[in-house]
Amino acid sequence: MRNEILEYFRKANGGYVSGEQISKDLKVSRTAIWKHINVLKERGYIFESSTRKGYRLIYAPDLLTPLEIESVLHTELLGRHIVYYESTTSTNEEAKKIAMQGAEEGTIVVAEEQVTGHGRLSRSFYTPFAKGIWFSVILRPKFFPMEASKCTLMAAVGVCRGIHRLGLPAAGIKWPNDILVNGKKMVGMLSEMSSSMEKIDYIILGIGINTGIKENEFPEEFRETATSFLNEGINVSRKNLLAAVLAELEAEYKLAQTEGFERVLEDWRKLSITLGKEVRVIYSNENYIGKAVDIDKDGCLLVETKEGIQRVLAGDVSIRPVDAPIPQR
Ligand code: BTN
Repeated sequence: MRNEILEYFRKANGGYVSGEQISKDLKVSRTAIWKHINVLKERGYIFESSTRKGYRLIYAPDLLTPLEIESVLHTELLGRHIVYYESTTSTNEEAKKIAMQGAEEGTIVVAEEQVTGHGRLSRSFYTPFAKGIWFSVILRPKFFPMEASKCTLMAAVGVCRGIHRLGLPAAGIKWPNDILVNGKKMVGMLSEMSSSMEKIDYIILGIGINTGIKENEFPEEFRETATSFLNEGINVSRKNLLAAVLAELEAEYKLAQTEGFERVLEDWRKLSITLGKEVRVIYSNENYIGKAVDIDKDGCLLVETKEGIQRVLAGDVSIRPVDAPIPQR
């Protein structure tokens, strides 16, 4: 109902809308309309009212409601169906639930805030109210399950390009799919899949982009290593950023489906900040240094060491600059 009310104000484009007209059209009382407008005010919308003319919308906050997203979206598939939460546990968890119930490909789950936003192995990810874009995309690709791991590289390309479009050309991809700006992490991703041996049922691409978190607002553990658009000097429109990311991601997804992953991997290489660098690989009991020289056709990182080329699979592998401290286990 609130979205329908907002639609009137959008169409009026800053002009007055009569409360009586809305209540007639939507078949609800004037008091009910007034209550909805009050809730919108509490959420940051600013209205001017006149006893004779009704209400006028002066300012709409940068929320990621379906209505706000749809007003700037140019995709054919991704985001054409939106599930929106002001607050939820984790958009990945919600996306999994509805994917299992048959949600259509391209559906996105968006939340202003996540209470238990996380990465792999339940590592926490800070996702405060309206200070980032916390969302998950449901894909149902036709390719074989063994190809799925490359979707995470594809997502990194889409998100990185979307970030470039909104004014941060310095953003680059740290293998496999973190996005860093000036050495600090701005985006984290969590991909999850359900499949049989031969067919993918669904892939969930969970993406978290820090937009409005100030340096001192990050929890202590992330303060040194995380950044946001605001920290990098840009007051970004979250809905425009989401629309750009979805458009770029859709383009890469189409490419992967029509031509295979070769072009996607090529795009990934161009945006990589890992290739050509000395890295330390930490995996289980292994810990070695080498030069990241390429990714192979499966998206594995190829690291040149004294013993030869090592092929590193995405998973619980930590890739860090050689001069970074070695984490204690
Ligand atoms: C990481 O730790 O780098 C991965 C973090 C992934 C966070 C995103 S936010 C949207 C989606 N929901 C989650 O709970 N996780 C992903």
